[in-house]
Amino acid sequence: MSVPVTIRQIAEKAEVSIGTVSHVINGTAKVREKLRVRVLDAIRSLGYQPSQLARGLRRNRTSMLVMMIPDVTNPFFPAVIRGVEDIAFKSKYRVVLCNTDNDRRKETLYLNEMRSYSPSGWLVIPSVDSEIAPHFTKAPGPPVVCLDRQPQGWHGDVVLVANEAGAYSATRHLLRMGHRHLAVITGPLHLANAVERLNGFKRALSEANLPVDADYIQEARFERNSGYTAAKRLLRMLPRPTAIFACNDLMALGVLLAARELGLHCPEDLSVVGFDNLDFAEFTAPALTTVHQPGYQLGTAAARLLLERIAGSNQPPQKLVLPTELQIRHSVAPLSGTYSAALPNPSLEPTTVR
Ligand code: RIB
Repeated sequence: MSVPVTIRQIAEKAEVSIGTVSHVINGTAKVREKLRVRVLDAIRSLGYQPSQLARGLRRNRTSMLVMMIPDVTNPFFPAVIRGVEDIAFKSKYRVVLCNTDNDRRKETLYLNEMRSYSPSGWLVIPSVDSEIAPHFTKAPGPPVVCLDRQPQGWHGDVVLVANEAGAYSATRHLLRMGHRHLAVITGPLHLANAVERLNGFKRALSEANLPVDADYIQEARFERNSGYTAAKRLLRMLPRPTAIFACNDLMALGVLLAARELGLHCPEDLSVVGFDNLDFAEFTAPALTTVHQPGYQLGTAAARLLLERIAGSNQPPQKLVLPTELQIRHSVAPLSGTYSAALPNPSLEPTTVR
């Protein structure tokens, strides 16, 4: 039986570092084309077989996949995790969840600790202020696939949804209903998906020749209470926005609560659109118009991509973008002729006179 070719032998033949060979094999970072070609030539001439990588990983790696999620209490993530686990389990891999609480320190702690368990691969939904990319690009290791949010500085495999297009369609729907004072409550703008959704909102306004009023852009944290607080600020402004696009369904819940407390009715006084299409969206009062994002498919696609890497795929880094779709329900109504910029409850004085 021939002695397996090692990564070190490939590196020596290609006159590159071991890390470069690992990046080419695992697709974990961009490699200059000239070097990539040298590595691939060395792999071919030495007869290195991708299956050797799989055998090596099986020998040196557990059948564990580590999945990092930012907020285990957020009902968006269970569908994603389910998608991952369904694919992983069928291939005899076991998923270990690490909840980072959107805290980069906890994220780094998990990363360092879980490395010692020699996982076969990582699936990462980064925390809000994640600095995870360098941890994976500096030192070669098992394959990594990021999903839902592309971390800053990450150029490896990533699976996303069409955030900008989804936000654009949500905003266009409000414009078609005659709204002209539209506000947006964003996720944390450190996150690429939050920025993409804001960009979709801005593009729709720009195409309608409407100004983007900075006061009508409120940054929040993809959590219900932050959406509630932002909505209270917006709904006390004059002129009051007649429509709010909340960039996830939890924040849209906060908007509905804030409107109710201020004596505003949805959709008669205020139209609301969310993003995610979580299960509860059909059961809010009124049922929430929102942008469906395929959480389960996000998970299955990311898991399949990771398993291909573990099996030795050396395709260039993949960026998969899954479609989103506007789900029109009852929380948006045409702008009524009886719109009044003032609050129905005069005791609630507006805090921002414009
Ligand atoms: O609700 C949580 C949000 O954060 C979702 O929109 C999802 O995209 C995640 O990034």
